Amino acid sequence: MTDRHLLGLEHQSAEGISALLDAAEGMLGVGTAGNPKRSDLAGICVANIFYEPSTRTRISFGLAARRLGADVVDFTSSGSSVGKGESFIDTARNIEAMGVDVVVVRHASAGAPHLLANHLKAAVVNAGDGAHEHPTQALLDMLTIRRRKGRIAGLTVGLVGDILHSRVARSNIHGLTKLGAKVIVCGPPTLVPAGVESLGVRVAHRLDDILQECDVLNLLRIQFERQRTGLFPSVNEYARLFAMTGERVRKARPDVLLLAPGPINRGVEITPDVADGPHSAILEQVDHGLAVRMAVLRRAAGRN
Ligand code: NCD
Repeated sequence: MTDRHLLGLEHQSAEGISALLDAAEGMLGVGTAGNPKRSDLAGICVANIFYEPSTRTRISFGLAARRLGADVVDFTSSGSSVGKGESFIDTARNIEAMGVDVVVVRHASAGAPHLLANHLKAAVVNAGDGAHEHPTQALLDMLTIRRRKGRIAGLTVGLVGDILHSRVARSNIHGLTKLGAKVIVCGPPTLVPAGVESLGVRVAHRLDDILQECDVLNLLRIQFERQRTGLFPSVNEYARLFAMTGERVRKARPDVLLLAPGPINRGVEITPDVADGPHSAILEQVDHGLAVRMAVLRRAAGRN
């Protein structure tokens, strides 16, 4: 394995994470109106290998690669030979054999990117593995916090909702604690993993209890596709206790920053007025995601 892989934030150093955020700052706006594309990744081929649905992440990696001059191949498991029984590793090896330098992978199984990193020569970037990690999402969340608040160290960040099934929560916990933020995870007892305190976070079970101390709230989507049934009484009940509503915004800190990884379920984790309101940085996060992925791809390609 080379350190060009980005499999998660758990084993990245604080310096490594800050360096990626610094590099991403330099990539903001590249390839958009008035800002020319760059050629950092000229001659590099990036393969997006997605075994799970994705809107933002897949488009974002593809655009980031193209705006730095790479060739991009897109693979989605539906409609592929996977239906004919080919294994995950064989599929990836065959794609790699077409001259691919960087593989971006999303998979429903935790550890899938690590498996590829052990079997491929290409650098591997984790675009979300099961309920394990989603490092580029956490990096773009941190870039948004750093740009809006001017720092990360010393801030209190609440991660709200389905912590148990959320790879975004896990990567945020690792990244934010390494950079010196205080992290509170807040959700129904059935959706907060037992022993999560060992990761250096505090646990709360009522959003109203933490509203006044959080500088940032990251509102996680209920992962309906990963749920066993019966983990919370009903969507309405969940929304009553954990949805970010206009009333809760008024009780929160006046400068509270609201993040959501998307896709959002309007009215479940966040009400429409709040999602589109002045505290929300949801679309800024998407923009920052492009810059973060450019920085990550450049590092993966060894073009730093
Ligand atoms: C997240 C994911 O897929 O883990 N979405 C994303 O990448 N923007 C979060 C989610 O699906 O809730």
